[in-house]
Order: sequence, then C-alpha cells, then structure tokens
Amino acid sequence: MATTDAALDHPNHRFKALIAHAQAYGFIYPSSEIYDGLQSIYDYGPYGVALKRNLQNFWWQSMTQLHPNIVGIDAAIMMHPTTWQASGHIDGFTDPMVDNKDSKKRYRVDTLVEEYAMQWAAQGQPAQAKALMSEMEAYLETGNLPGLDQLLQTFAIPCPLSKTVNWTPVRQFNLMFSTQVGAQDDATTLYLRPETAQGIFVNFLNVQKTARMKIPFGIAQIGKAFRNEIVARQFTFRMREFEQMEMQFFIQPGTETKWFDYWQTTRTAWYSSLGINPEQINLHPHKQLAHYATAAVDIEYAFPFGFKEVEGIHSRTDFDLRSHADYAKKKLQYFDPDWQRSYIPYVIETSVGLDRLVLMLLSNGLVKTRHPTDATRTYLKLPPPLAPIKAAIFPLVKKDGLAEKALALFHQLKYDCPLIYEETPSIGKRYTRQDLIGTPYCITIDYQTLEDETVTVRERDSMAQHRMPIAAIADYLHTNTSIKSLLARL
Ligand code: GAP
Repeated sequence: MATTDAALDHPNHRFKALIAHAQAYGFIYPSSEIYDGLQSIYDYGPYGVALKRNLQNFWWQSMTQLHPNIVGIDAAIMMHPTTWQASGHIDGFTDPMVDNKDSKKRYRVDTLVEEYAMQWAAQGQPAQAKALMSEMEAYLETGNLPGLDQLLQTFAIPCPLSKTVNWTPVRQFNLMFSTQVGAQDDATTLYLRPETAQGIFVNFLNVQKTARMKIPFGIAQIGKAFRNEIVARQFTFRMREFEQMEMQFFIQPGTETKWFDYWQTTRTAWYSSLGINPEQINLHPHKQLAHYATAAVDIEYAFPFGFKEVEGIHSRTDFDLRSHADYAKKKLQYFDPDWQRSYIPYVIETSVGLDRLVLMLLSNGLVKTRHPTDATRTYLKLPPPLAPIKAAIFPLVKKDGLAEKALALFHQLKYDCPLIYEETPSIGKRYTRQDLIGTPYCITIDYQTLEDETVTVRERDSMAQHRMPIAAIADYLHTNTSIKSLLARL
C-alpha cells in the first residue's frame, strides 16, 4: 500500500514541487520566458489552458444553466474613464506603500507588517504579534498614513533585504493600469479594468430590459482584469493580469442578508462538488471592507502557503448603480411589479479568480506517494470532468494490428472528448506520463481485444484495471468525465 511521505509533504517543498510540475508538464509558464520572464505575468500551456477552460465552463454553466434567473454578458476590458470615478476606483483602489531607502525595494505596508508579526508569533511572542496587527488594522481602517509611519519606527520593522528601518513616508498607490487611446496630442487616458464587475453595472438596464429579467436576477461574466500589484508573489496567486468570474445578483433592498447567506452556502457547495475536502476551505468574514462593501466573506483554500482567498462574496448595496446613475445622469432603476414602485436594486456579488482556482486544483491534486518498495509515484488527482485530457488510448504494442485497432477507437471517440493517442514508449511509461497531467483513464488495446472486442481501462488514482467492451467506452467516459456529472452534484 502506498503511504504519503511526511518529507514530501512539507509545505515549502510541496509549493516548489507544484510550481516545477506546472511548468514541466505544460500547465503554466513564466510569460516571455525567453527574455527571462515578466514578473507576476504567466502564460498557460496546452494542459493549463484546457484545465482553465473546463473550470470556466463549469462555473458558467453552474451560474447560467442551473439558475434560470442568471444570464451572461461579455463586456469590453476598456471602459469609459468616468466608470472608474463613479465606481470609486480612482480615489479608493489604493494600497499603502513604503520604500526602503537602502535596498530601494517597495513594499505593501500591510504585507510587510503581517510577515513581521508572523515571525514574532513563530518565535513565541503571540501577544506582541497580535498587538502589532491590531494597531496596523486600526490605522488602515482610518487611512492614517502618519500612524503607519510611526508604527514602522516604533516596532523597528526592518526591510527584509537591507535589514534597516530607513523608510520613506508611507503613501497610497493606485493599482490601476492606465493607457492612452487616440492620436498622441489628443489622447484620452483609459484604464484597464481592475475588476469585471463594472462592465455588469453599466449594462444593468440593457440586460434587464432586453432579456426581460425580473428581480431577483443575476448577470455573470468571465474576463481579464488587471492590477499593478506591488507585492506580486506566490506564483499565479497574485498576478498583474488575471481572470475573474464574477456574478452580480440584483435584489430588493432589505433582502441582502438573506441573499448574502444564500450565496455563501451555494458557493461553498460548489467547492465540495470539486472534491475539495471541507477542512481545506475556510469562510473568513472581512473586518476591513472594500470601499463598495457593507459585508464581505472570503472563501479561502488551504494552499501550501496557508489559508488564502480564492473567492469573495460581497454585499455591495446600491453603491455602484447609484453612483453610475449620478455620474451618467441616467435613471438606473427597476420598476418592481410586486412593490408597485421603482428603486435602485441592491447587489450581492460573487467574485472568484480563475487563476487562483487553477492553482487550488493543482495544489489539491498533486499527490506524491511512497510505496513500501521505496518507489515514489506522482499523479495529478484532478476531477475527471476538469482534466485536460479525458482518456489516453494505447495499443499494447505497435504491431499485429493493435495500432490500427487503437487508432480506430481514437477516431470514433474524438468527437466526444479530448483524447491522446500514443504508441510509445513502454506501457508503464505511457501510464506515468498521463498520471502527471491528470488523465483519469488509460485505455489499452491488447491481443485479447482482437478476440473479444474488450479493452483494459486503467484508473489514474487507484491504478485499478478492468476490462470493458469497446461498445461501452463512450458511455463510460460520458458518465464519468462530462461537466454534467459535476453539475449533477450541485
Ligand atoms: N469585484 C470584486 C473584486 O474584484 P477582489 O476580492 O478584489 O474583489 C476577487 O477580487 C477575486 O479576484 C479574488 O478573490 C481573487 O480570486 C481574484 N484576484 C484578485 N486579485 C488578484 C490577483 N492580483 N491575481 C490573481 N487573482 C486575483
């Protein structure tokens, strides 16, 4: 029996192994790698993009297909610049930053302080660590930058590189990327959207009227977002260009608590449907709220570097629609036939980072086991409906008509799902290669196939093998690998 090896399980090793695996097996590469990469920007390889698309489809279908009152849109990345004034991002989408004059390195103050507090806690001084954190949180909440300056000096928080406390004054740094559109002397400054949500708010009336939606209803969107993150680390966890899957749910004012609870429950169940152990998930209510929210909960996953946010659920009141109505001087209201009056709807938002979900699935799925014989086995335990390749088809050997028979099966099944066909190297090595990219089933055509039209199906996780008639394979793959099988768990 295989056992998990404690040394292989050390969080630092696990995370390094995960990054190396993602790169070596075609999931994620540093962007522009031939030029030594671009910090915090990544490209997806053949298996990474397939995993990402499958996740997108699952999220999209679970939102728009399972909820008849949720519809989708695809808004542009560049929006009218006033959008970001109305949304509060020009004034409020900032992080307090500080530079160390000796190392010339820039830090987000909250990250710098948090890491220092964690060191204290690890060194057996939890009370001091707690005091430091609560003082910082008080300053952050009130936007007290001189308070933060003082905090860095009082607690003598050093730069991790230069080890000095020679800090510049703390200042706010806006996270939006800007770009120029139009002829140079007459150019307009636009922003790359830092969240997809605003594309939904500005289209609220278009969608409500043209799709004849009645409150409560939702609008879902998947798309790129951009943030000039200063502390960009932990692989694809914090990127400058990333993808969000957001849904704004428009409701009657006064019903926000009910719907906030509903979406917490619904979204938590979505993670269970992916086979994530409930102990790996944490619901973290926010103390510090974004400028638009009156309540917020993070869904956190136990990454090797700790419990971290993958999704946020936010109660946004009528902040965004009301503000757009003011700036655009348009009525963004809904006439409620039940209430017989018009109002600006309230909003509950669910917002998940697609790249973080991919990282979560890789993290959760990368299994390394050690056998009593001391041989290690690595495989990627992805939910079969999300696996990049659903099945690999192998002839046991190339000769004696086995390759032709295997190819015929490949061409018969290729209309149903993504497959791989391989004739070499040895069957054991072919199995290993599929294990590493998470292919749930390997189907082998051998000499017995020529006699009785059966094949061997080998399962990735258990390595169990069983024979099955060729005629049953299409149904078997559909039952076990379609998105429908995941949706049915919700
Ligand atoms: N519309 C609300 C909003 O954007 P957020 O908590 O700032 O809220 C939502 O972001 C989700 O987007 C996060 O839970 C995370 O999964 C993802 N996300 C945010 N910043 C990210 C970054 N720099 N890199 C990767 N994903 C990010």
